[in-house]
Amino acid sequence: MSATEIDEINAELPHYEDKSAVSIEALKIVQKHRGWVSDDSLTAIAEYLKISPAQLEGVATFYNLIYRRPVGNTVIHVCDSVSCWMLGGDRLRDKLCRHLNVKLGETSQDGEYTVLPIVCLGACDRAPVAMVNGELRPDLTDNIVQELLGE
Ligand code: FES
Repeated sequence: MSATEIDEINAELPHYEDKSAVSIEALKIVQKHRGWVSDDSLTAIAEYLKISPAQLEGVATFYNLIYRRPVGNTVIHVCDSVSCWMLGGDRLRDKLCRHLNVKLGETSQDGEYTVLPIVCLGACDRAPVAMVNGELRPDLTDNIVQELLGE
């Protein structure tokens, strides 16, 4: 880990009871600097926090905004829960994937876009919903490509 990453993790430590509790923040910090969390980074974080890599991997896997593989510059999370599904979210997601020539979970050839599934984003009354680099995009329509990519 870089000195900056360690400084930022250290700044979080007073907010948590023990080092293992800061693990999500530590993963987010490393991801912010590197774009994703590699195996080497995960091992380094675990060592620093004095928890097992397996324990940290469990946290990283559970928290689906931590990327364990490289992602594109723009990450699109498409809600795959029931309200969005009932209002055609699957069909719109497929349309987006066809446009980008990717399958769900993949990154476009130019490295720009990654499309990932996510559970309910808490905006069911405005389904179907997606999130673009962390920004909620509700009320999606057949114009999903334009609505999400601005094309
Ligand atoms: S089901 Fe999609 S936002 Fe709740």
